Amino acid sequence: MNIVLFGPPGAGKGTQSSLLVQRKNMRHLSTGDMFRRAIEAKTALGQMAKSFIDKGELVPDHVTVSMVENELKTLEGSSFILDGFPRNISQADSLEEMLKKNAISIDAAIFLEVPSSVLEERLTGRRVCKSCGALYHVSEKPPKVAGTCDRCGGEVYQRSDDRAEVIRGRLEVYEKNTMPLKSYYRAKGKLVEVNGQGDAESVFVRLSAVIGSSGQSIKR
Ligand code: AP5
Repeated sequence: MNIVLFGPPGAGKGTQSSLLVQRKNMRHLSTGDMFRRAIEAKTALGQMAKSFIDKGELVPDHVTVSMVENELKTLEGSSFILDGFPRNISQADSLEEMLKKNAISIDAAIFLEVPSSVLEERLTGRRVCKSCGALYHVSEKPPKVAGTCDRCGGEVYQRSDDRAEVIRGRLEVYEKNTMPLKSYYRAKGKLVEVNGQGDAESVFVRLSAVIGSSGQSIKR
C-alpha cells in the first residue's frame, strides 16, 4: 500500500503519517522533513532550501524531485506515505515517471480536508522536536515539560515558517499550486477525500477505514 497524503499546511499530514508509521509499519517520506534535516545539518541543500522555506515559497522543482528520487531508491519494497510531495502538477508528472522507472505504483492520493479557519490556529500553535521531529501543539498537545520532547528529551521549537505572516503566504501557495492536484488525481481514479477535522485519533479512524486494517487495501 503506497499513498500520497496531501492537503493544506496544518491539515495533519505529519501527525497522521506518524500514526501510520507506528501502527501500519509504513515508511514516511516527507519532503518538508528532508529539507529541515538538511537545514539542521547546515548542508548546501539546506541553506538553499531555507531561503525558500522561510518565505513560505516552494523549493525549486528540480531540487525537490531529485531528492525524492534518491529516497525512493532506499525503499526496498516497504509501503510508503509521500507527505508534501508532489506539490504541483509538474512534480506529480515527475513522480509518475519516477514510479514507472522503479516499477512502483501509488494506490491512492488521499486528500485531508480541513477548513482554513482551523489551519491557522493549528499552525501558529505547532511545536516540533528538533531531534526526532515529534509534533506538539501549545494547547492541544503540549509536551509534559515545556520546551522538552516527551519522546527523546530534545529541544521543542517553533518552525520559522509557522509565523502568522509566513502562514498566509503558504496558504496562498497551496491554493495556487497544490489544490489542482485534486483534479489531477480524480482524473486518474486515485483521489480519496478524508475529513481531517476533529482530534487526531478520530481522523486516524477515518483514514484507517480507507486504507484497511492491514494497510493492504483501499476502500473507496
Ligand atoms: P511541509 O513540512 O511539507 O509543510 P506543509 O505541507 O505546509 O504542512 P505542515 O507540515 O505545515 O502541516 P501538516 O499537514 O503536516 O500538519 P501537522 O501534522 O504538522 O513543507 C514546509 C516547506 O518546505 C514548504 O513551505 C516548502 O517551502 C518546502 N517544501 C516541502 N515540500 C516541497 C515540495 N514538494 N516542493 C517544493 N517545496 C517543498 O499538524 C499541524 C499542527 O496541528 C500540529 O501542532 C499538530 O499537533 C496539530 N494537529 C494535527 N492534527 C490535528 C487534529 N486532528 N486536531 C487538532 N490538532 C491537530
